[in-house]
Amino acid sequence: MQKITIAIDGYSSCGKSTLAKSLAQKLGYNYIDTGAMYRAVAVYALQNNLILKNNKILVNELILQLDKVEVSFSFNTITKTTETLLNGVNVDKEIRTMQVNDIVSKISSIKEVREKMVALQREMGKNKAVVLDGRDVGTNVFPDAELKLFMTADYDVRAQRRLDELQSKGQYFTHDEVKQNLMTRDYDDTHRKENPLIKAKDAITLDNTDLNKEQQIEYVLKLVSEMKLLTTIEEN
Ligand code: DC
Repeated sequence: MQKITIAIDGYSSCGKSTLAKSLAQKLGYNYIDTGAMYRAVAVYALQNNLILKNNKILVNELILQLDKVEVSFSFNTITKTTETLLNGVNVDKEIRTMQVNDIVSKISSIKEVREKMVALQREMGKNKAVVLDGRDVGTNVFPDAELKLFMTADYDVRAQRRLDELQSKGQYFTHDEVKQNLMTRDYDDTHRKENPLIKAKDAITLDNTDLNKEQQIEYVLKLVSEMKLLTTIEEN
C-alpha cells in the first residue's frame, strides 16, 4: 500500500491532534505532535528560570542552552500512548498547563528553536507513513506532503473544547480567559516572522465547528483513499 505524509495545520484548539492521532491509529501510521515539541522547550525554559515573572523570555540564554534541550517521543506499550520526553523525562502533564499556553507561541517564534525542532521533525517523518500536526507542517516542514489539511472552527466552540480539556485535568479558568489565550496565540502564530501559520496553497480547509470526531475522521479517510489512488496513478 502506498505510504503518504499527512500534514494537519491550523489554529489553536481546533482538534488537530485528536484528528491526527485517530487518523494515525486507523492507518497504522506514526503520529508526530509538533506543538508538543515547542511546548517541551517552553517547559525547559520554565524549569531553568529562563522566564521572568512578566512572561518575558531570556531568549539569548535559551538559545545558548538549546543543545541541552533534547525532545523526543516514546511509545508507552502499557497505556498505548505516545509520551513527550524532555531530556528523557515524560513531560506530558507539564506541557499542557496555562502557564505553558501563555508563553509557547513566543517560544516557537524564536528562529533557533524552530530550526532545531523542524530538523527533528523532518528526521522523524522521513520514511513517510506519518501524520503530523502543527502550524507549518504543510508549508515548511513537509511542503511535499501528499495530503494537507488546514483546520479551523468557531472561537467559542474552540474555547469551550479547551476549557473542558483543562477542567478534566483539574485546571479551572473562565471561558473568556481561554478564548483570549486562543486569540492571542492565533495572532502570534499568524504574525510571526519565522514560518507563520498560513494555509498552504494546496491544503484542504476543514472547518469542524459543526462536525463530530467520527464525521471528521470519515471525511479525511475518504480523502486519504482518493489521494492514494491518485499517487498510484501518477506513478504508473
Ligand atoms: O498545537 P499546540 O497548541 O500544541 O502548539 C503549541 C504552540 O506551538 C502554538 O502556539 C504554536 C506553536 N507551533 C508552531 O509554531 N509550529 C508548529 N509546527 C506547531 C506548534
